[in-house]
Amino acid sequence: MEQKGEPNKILRQHLEMEAFFVGDFTIRRPAPAAPRNARTQPGGQEIAAMNDSLETIAVEVGACRKCEIGTTRLNAVPGQGSPAARLMFVGEGPGADEDQQGLAFVGRAGKLLTDIITAMGLKRQEVFIGNVIKCRPPENRDPKAEEILNCWPFLKRQLELIRPDVIVALGAHAARTLLKTDEPIGKLRGRFHEYRFSEDAPPAKLMPTYHPAYLLRNYSYDNRKRVWEDMLKVLNELGLPVPEKKK
Ligand code: URA
Repeated sequence: MEQKGEPNKILRQHLEMEAFFVGDFTIRRPAPAAPRNARTQPGGQEIAAMNDSLETIAVEVGACRKCEIGTTRLNAVPGQGSPAARLMFVGEGPGADEDQQGLAFVGRAGKLLTDIITAMGLKRQEVFIGNVIKCRPPENRDPKAEEILNCWPFLKRQLELIRPDVIVALGAHAARTLLKTDEPIGKLRGRFHEYRFSEDAPPAKLMPTYHPAYLLRNYSYDNRKRVWEDMLKVLNELGLPVPEKKK
């Protein structure tokens, strides 16, 4: 397909796209500061107070049997990552690999998500990765409205505790749940929306983008470019540099 635009820009985009899929960008990031939600005790010692609460949610998720999928799952998948993450990825729900391991995004779609995170110059441990529903639906069917409703309080609490600056909603289910809309993902993606933690707290920026599993099924240059452009906006919003390609 013929490309329009200035040659340098096209070359840069090609290099970025290439690096997207080999994940070979140099990570140039300052050492993470103390967790943003750390509490300073009178003695000056810092405690990561939120850790325990995310653990509490994980325990509650593990004990939850509100839906039938709570009894058919192998493991609940509460989500994992940094309690001080500035960036949070929210997917749809666990698949077979996630169900086996009790961890979010560890299968094929998870590998692609890891490549995207790496291409952004970040590490999985620096962000938080979770899902709208925490149990695997049989045969990987779509989550039911009732399951999303039952699971919503867990995700809402995780968001409140972490208070990321930016949330990336991966796919239609995450975007629609977080934005309370029925709009198709194609219309929602590519621009920032707001996610309100509460009336008085500043909202997070929410970027809907294609789900990695959709990207794997529709692995076109245009779709990859769309996702990468969404991630460039996220990096810009976070004030983080676009990593340079390794020499
Ligand atoms: N797809 C999701 O939406 N979440 C996962 O954790 C894995 C695949």
